[in-house]
Amino acid sequence: MMSNATGTRVHRSHLPLVAAATGGTPSRRPVWFMRQAGRSLPEYRAIRANHGMLESCFDPELVCEITMQPVRRHDVDAAILFSDIVVPLKAAGIDLDIVAGTGPVIAEPVRTPADVDRIPRLEPAAVGAIAHGVRLLLEQLDDAALIGFAGAPFTLASYLIEGGPSRNYERTKAMMHGDPQTWSKLMGRLADITIAFLQVQLDAGVDAIQLFDSWAGMLSAADYETYVAPHSTRVLAEIAHYGVPRIHFGVGTGELLAPMAHAGADVIGVDWRVPLDEAARRVGPGKAVQGNLDPTLLFAGPEVVEREVRRVVADGERAIAAGAVGHIFNLGHGVLPATDPDVLTRVVELVHSI
Ligand code: CP3
Repeated sequence: MMSNATGTRVHRSHLPLVAAATGGTPSRRPVWFMRQAGRSLPEYRAIRANHGMLESCFDPELVCEITMQPVRRHDVDAAILFSDIVVPLKAAGIDLDIVAGTGPVIAEPVRTPADVDRIPRLEPAAVGAIAHGVRLLLEQLDDAALIGFAGAPFTLASYLIEGGPSRNYERTKAMMHGDPQTWSKLMGRLADITIAFLQVQLDAGVDAIQLFDSWAGMLSAADYETYVAPHSTRVLAEIAHYGVPRIHFGVGTGELLAPMAHAGADVIGVDWRVPLDEAARRVGPGKAVQGNLDPTLLFAGPEVVEREVRRVVADGERAIAAGAVGHIFNLGHGVLPATDPDVLTRVVELVHSI
């Protein structure tokens, strides 16, 4: 069912998300939410009361259970693997933690050429638990696609250099411009880790992948093209042969949509700042768009939510008229922790009913 006689996974091109991503005709309008697995769900908080964040990410049964929670609750068209962008760095041996309310914190930030030389490679066996989680999920998922993911080299580099979340990314940009050779070496090593992590997920059978370059929007288009795009392009190229849809997303990337599209993904994720039809024109023809309901508007009451959902769906149709091959409904960034999960369920029902 999931695999053919040789053990190779059969591509599930009938899935609505895969069809929308590849120019097919989806059986219904696909919708899922970034950060759908997480703190907006009481059943997630109940699990996390007894298990640490990283502990949960490396436990196949917990990965499977937490990934399934929003699928059961909301009837979304995709499950996104419960993990985090720093999981492959941790697995490779970098000392870090994920601190509640803060995000990833790196014990010894990467600042010098010697620090870069110490960045390890990712051995696939070190993320075997994640592959196991993927296999458990594929036994349970029927009509929802399983999306694997990884952080793009720039967003990973920003955490490693800054040591944690950052407002201005001054140390990151200082290395990028002040020591481009060290920067390039760091980005190359991170690209290797990202490729290895995505290959493990793809070998285990995920139906699509999303490459999160969440903080790329902090860069000018010129810096993005010079210092970031070549590495993201390599990541996307090295997994192209799997033939599964590759989604590429960042926040505040209105000015970067064209160069991000150039990096080679099949689907471009768009935040709420640029309407999808305008985004499709910037992306250029032949790719699908994903997005882009403002996650804060889920707090604005049912009338606003319904009006905005209908507007995003209409913008998605205009995006297709402007040359996009499909539209995957999503938020413009992740679900905020205080979001009422019932509002998310209603958004899914509405998207499917239009
Ligand atoms: O549902 C899903 O989307 C799957 C799970 C997922 C997590 N992190 C779980 C998580 C995904 C896809 C990510 C990706 C991720 N992690 C990104 C890219 C996506 C984006 O938001 O742009 C980034 C930048 C990170 C780094 C990170 N990890 C941040 C910024 C935070 C939030 C800090 C906070 O607590 O507010 C984390 C922690 C994190 N990752 C949580 C979850 C569920 C919260 C930790 C907890 O539950 O205690």
